[in-house]
Amino acid sequence: MFRLCLLLTLALAVGCGPKPVAQTPTDSPQPTEPTTPAEPTTPQAPDAEPAPEPNEPTPQPTPEPTTPPAPAPIEPAKTAAAATLGDPALTAGIPGTGPLTEEAIEKWLNSEGVHETLDVSLPAGVGWGTVQGLEANPMTRAKIELGRQLYFDTRLSADNTVSCASCHHPKHSYAFASQFGIGINGQEGGRNSPVAFNRIFSGPQFWDGRAESLEAQAVGPIANPIEMGNTHEAAVKTVAGIPGYRMQFEKIFPDGVNIDNIGKAIATFERTLITGPSPYDAYEPLRAFEKQFADDLEDLDAFKEDEPRLYEKYVSLKAASDALPISAEAKRGRELFFGKAKCTECHAGANFTDEKYHNLGVGMDAETPDLGRYEVTKKEEDKGAFKTPTCRNIALTGPYMHDGSQKTLLEVVKWYNKGGHANPTLSKKIVKLDLSEQEEQDLVAFMEALTGPLPKVEEGRLPQ
Ligand code: HEC
Ligand code: HEC
Repeated sequence: MFRLCLLLTLALAVGCGPKPVAQTPTDSPQPTEPTTPAEPTTPQAPDAEPAPEPNEPTPQPTPEPTTPPAPAPIEPAKTAAAATLGDPALTAGIPGTGPLTEEAIEKWLNSEGVHETLDVSLPAGVGWGTVQGLEANPMTRAKIELGRQLYFDTRLSADNTVSCASCHHPKHSYAFASQFGIGINGQEGGRNSPVAFNRIFSGPQFWDGRAESLEAQAVGPIANPIEMGNTHEAAVKTVAGIPGYRMQFEKIFPDGVNIDNIGKAIATFERTLITGPSPYDAYEPLRAFEKQFADDLEDLDAFKEDEPRLYEKYVSLKAASDALPISAEAKRGRELFFGKAKCTECHAGANFTDEKYHNLGVGMDAETPDLGRYEVTKKEEDKGAFKTPTCRNIALTGPYMHDGSQKTLLEVVKWYNKGGHANPTLSKKIVKLDLSEQEEQDLVAFMEALTGPLPKVEEGRLPQ
């Protein structure tokens, strides 16, 4: 709570946090005066233009100097309407064990606060990200829970075998470890399953951005012949025919069961899937401090004597980073990622993506390449461009790229090192990098240090 409030306060102070997210628990301490660190400044909004100077380390979280060790267990919210995304209580299912009965659902729907619009805050790490979609589709505990059930329910597919989780499984960090998504009757599409977490930071969805919102995206797979192979009419009929679902829809939405409300519920659940603090997040404030006070830190005894308060800060930052240790390789990789390797030209912001479309040349040597964003905009320059994916938890979500063609992070780094694959619409930002083998390894180590916990989610307890 403590860390979170401070982070949020800071994020809001620099104007990157939308108002609905602000959430100031009454027990929050006053923010300590910002004596440090000076270097990382205003994070770049996801839709901002990339920084003009390629070598300038760009968006970095505004670290709060007193960040305590993370991740701390999340305290239960003080009021029904306050919630921290990532809190496992939001995704624990309707209380109880064994098969989910209609009585349990009814009791849940009548319990206090479950229909109140949540005042949402973000966990540390991604805490300075800009959230999307909450105004159009406000979050309530009941809606999150309904979306959770639908997400894991194979009855949304034509033959009761495929759910959203089939291709975006919690065990696979909400992606899937196959090259392409595998849908109904074992059919394969031509694209790799992207992650279904940190979606709250994204507007348009899919590799090519063809769905304008998470709500619009969520209903797509149901009617996709090679994913869930159903029709929206049939899915709505199935859901409406299950009394436990019907009760929930009727309580949560004025217009009951329909395909739009199915999309709203699923999107609401997905917005709770947020990565928690990674070793990188714990290290970043320490790094900034060490940079700012490099001279003072050379003689720790003198520093302690002359600047006791700053010294205390240093000790607590160091303890936080030690609790989520980061390797020397990863630290070097961090400098490369934000510097010489130019990764933050596109993988920028709290979720390490500019939410824009770029051509790296992946798959462009095929006879009929997947043209990606071009299929949506029909603009020549969009040929072969795909949406920048997040780098958070990237070590857990191989294979990589829109076509799942690269198996390891080292393979990905080597792709960038050689300047991608030449083609007429290759991004101007993709250039040969001249990284040594050690530097390639360091970048991989950095990306591994972007791994943070995801909330625990109940996968069963669906209406009978
Ligand atoms: C058969 C496997 C499969 C199933 C089932 C499936 N997906 Fe996907 N999902 C994919 C693939 C592949 C893509 C990328 C497709 C594209 O970009 O054209 C994708 C894209 C997405 C995205 C976009 C992520 C981004 O970064 O833009 C989200 C969110 C998502 N799926 C959620 C869901 C939900 C919710 C369901 C259930 C209603 C679902 N998926 C069912 C395979 C699947
Ligand atoms: C010009 C913008 C741009 C730059 C610069 C860039 N990336 Fe990417 N990155 C992308 C896009 C776009 C994709 C998806 C491309 C595709 O699938 O065709 C991607 C994909 C990836 C993936 C695979 C993600 C996944 O989920 O499959 C990783 C890992 C990655 N980039 C890391 C890096 C690293 C490391 C650097 C710096 C060496 C870097 N990127 C530089 C835009 C960029």
